[in-house]
Amino acid sequence: MRVVVTGGSGQLARAIRETWTGHEVLCPPEAELDLSSREAIRRVLHEVNPGVVINAGAFTQVDRCEAEEAVATLINGTAVAWLAETCDDLQAKLVQISTDYVFDGQGTRPYRETDPVNPQSVYGRTKFLGEQAALSACNHLVARTSWLYDAWGKNFFLTMVNAARQGRALRVVADQRGTPTSCRALARQLQTAIDEDWRGLVHATCAGETTWHGFAAEIFRQTGIEASLSPCTTADYPLPAPRPAYSVMDGAHRGELGTDRMPTWEHALVEVVAHHRQESLGTERP
Ligand SMILES: NC(=O)c1ccc[n+]([C@@H]2O[C@H](COP(=O)([O-])OP(=O)(O)OC[C@H]3O[C@@H](n4cnc5c(N)ncnc54)[C@H](OP(=O)(O)O)[C@@H]3O)[C@@H](O)[C@H]2O)c1
Repeated sequence: MRVVVTGGSGQLARAIRETWTGHEVLCPPEAELDLSSREAIRRVLHEVNPGVVINAGAFTQVDRCEAEEAVATLINGTAVAWLAETCDDLQAKLVQISTDYVFDGQGTRPYRETDPVNPQSVYGRTKFLGEQAALSACNHLVARTSWLYDAWGKNFFLTMVNAARQGRALRVVADQRGTPTSCRALARQLQTAIDEDWRGLVHATCAGETTWHGFAAEIFRQTGIEASLSPCTTADYPLPAPRPAYSVMDGAHRGELGTDRMPTWEHALVEVVAHHRQESLGTERP
């Protein structure tokens, strides 16, 4: 099957390109497929004629979204409607990647797909618009995920590793609970979802839960990097966009749709740490 992944220079797109087997995976970057242009979406997708479009492109800088709501709405919401109409023309499946930020974070047990959403930020609201637009496509899958990271890209894992290596003292929030999800683990689950023709809305995070502080501690334990790490609260570091205090998602529906391949978050981290070591060796070689 020919698969187009939007946002081709992002971390999830790269993980899909590197892990998928048996499919022709094309990952056009923004310069080749600009989601803010309906004309570009229609032209590129009609030229390529994919069987599946995975929308991994998004305005992901959650704090910038607060100040740039029109752009966030265009890229995270309106563009998905254009993808949906074009996928329908081509009889292609649309896979929309969504987020835990659609929830308000006041939950006390893992969120199910049937739970009401209540986004608190511009990013969350515009990603919810994207979900609604994707649900209008004849053949769609909306996969909500959280706390994405990998051995490259812009993410919490690399921020922690790089800051600790520079000898910086790290204070990390210990009052937000969620689930770190490696892009590679999600990418493999997405391939299974395509191969098994999953449809509808599904939560797709790694298993288990922790806080950002707990995640940082496990990163340093697994990498063996010595770090000066201490906990702080969300209130200690006010940011423009509110974060959900609790955003753990229930994964039971995956098992109802087919093969649940998501590992525990600690297990997924082992693979990313190994990749990070390889990448570091590559850059350190003379
Ligand atoms: N990161 C997380 O923790 C997280 C959590 C839950 C859900 N998600 C969702 O998961 C998906 C993948 O996220 P990610 O972590 O891989 O994000 P990422 O690394 O920031 O990748 C997103 C990509 O979208 C691109 N993009 C921005 N504007 C675009 C436009 N107008 N046209 C085409 N591409 C555009 C970005 O390009 P530039 O780099 O040039 O800006 C970037 O390469 C997104 O839908 C995101 O909302 C992410």
